Amino acid sequence: MKPVIDEEMVEAAIQALQNERLVLGESVFKFEEEFARYVGVKYAISTNSGTDALQIALLALGLGRGDEVITTPASFVASANCALHIGARPVFADIDIRTYTLDPAEAEKALTERTRAILPVHLYGQPADMGALMDLAEEKGLFVVEDACQAHGAIYKGRKVGSIGHVGCFSFYPSKNMTVAGDGGMITTDDEEVAEIAASLRNCGRSDWYIFERVGFTARLNTVNAAIGLVQLKRLDKWNDARRRIAELYRRLLSGLESVVLPPRGDGAVKPVYHLFVIRTEHRDALASWLRSQGVECAIHYRLPIHLQPVYRRLFGFRGGEFPRTEELSRTCLSLPMWPGLTGDQVRYVCEAIEEFFDKELWREELRPSP
Ligand SMILES: Cc1ncc(COP(=O)(O)O)c(C=O)c1O
Repeated sequence: MKPVIDEEMVEAAIQALQNERLVLGESVFKFEEEFARYVGVKYAISTNSGTDALQIALLALGLGRGDEVITTPASFVASANCALHIGARPVFADIDIRTYTLDPAEAEKALTERTRAILPVHLYGQPADMGALMDLAEEKGLFVVEDACQAHGAIYKGRKVGSIGHVGCFSFYPSKNMTVAGDGGMITTDDEEVAEIAASLRNCGRSDWYIFERVGFTARLNTVNAAIGLVQLKRLDKWNDARRRIAELYRRLLSGLESVVLPPRGDGAVKPVYHLFVIRTEHRDALASWLRSQGVECAIHYRLPIHLQPVYRRLFGFRGGEFPRTEELSRTCLSLPMWPGLTGDQVRYVCEAIEEFFDKELWREELRPSP
């Protein structure tokens, strides 16, 4: 995918650069206000990355050493690192492979007396099963922190993700559905106290410029990036609509292929935003190399789930086999090209190549032309 940086974004960046404070300038607060309005929460606190948003969110909820946070190993490593960064323990629970997201029944099995929070990930822009997860959290007195880093604008039962749990966290890394033209993140919440603590923690722990109330971080979003984010946010719905149209075309063109499992479509109440369009197939590696030989870029998110990353194997002794559905996803997932500027002809080209692969059984090595 390519991030879009248009004239209005460049103008906004120059305007902020020439006229505002470079750190915590006016655009930062405007971006926070607009983002809160967009997600449908009272407060939004910007940070310098999605990773910091997650870590600061957990701290602002009062979590720390000895606490456990239940999350899914089918994610980017930050979804678990955030717990380790604050001295807590990430406890993994398997996914529902149909939705790629945390299975509430598995989350329940992972509960202990140390569990303080559940951290579902809206992976690939697919909303997690928030109804069941919120019910579980309420019953057990737990916080829910939504990792919405891949799901800006996704809707679950009429509400935007990031407004359903106690806190939502977003990333603006350049490949996301919207960016700030660099690293950036956002914390969303309706809780005034959490918002105040998060704002202090990302600003060195300040309560006033020379008064430090907490052990905080230098984790602010820069003003110029916020100015670009404000313009990107205005485009987000249009871009998400384009992603949905592209997903529909993929779906229509690939639905006849028995060997391909398509991502969930959502319905009137649940609307994914297709940060990625991820299919599953037993012939994943052969299909990926065939597509590359045809000039189609595709990717694997993620070849290694978090628990099988070297650092997690070392820290927790995982060996494989612990989370079979997540491991199956890692073995079979393939991200097809997806960004709002993709044309219908390009999607058709990709789908024809996929069809040819299955029609001619090109997974058989001897039949596949070398790239
Ligand atoms: C699901 C998920 N969580 C967390 C992050 C961390 O965000 P960042 O890269 O902005 O630190 C990312 C993105 O990279 C992500 O995809």
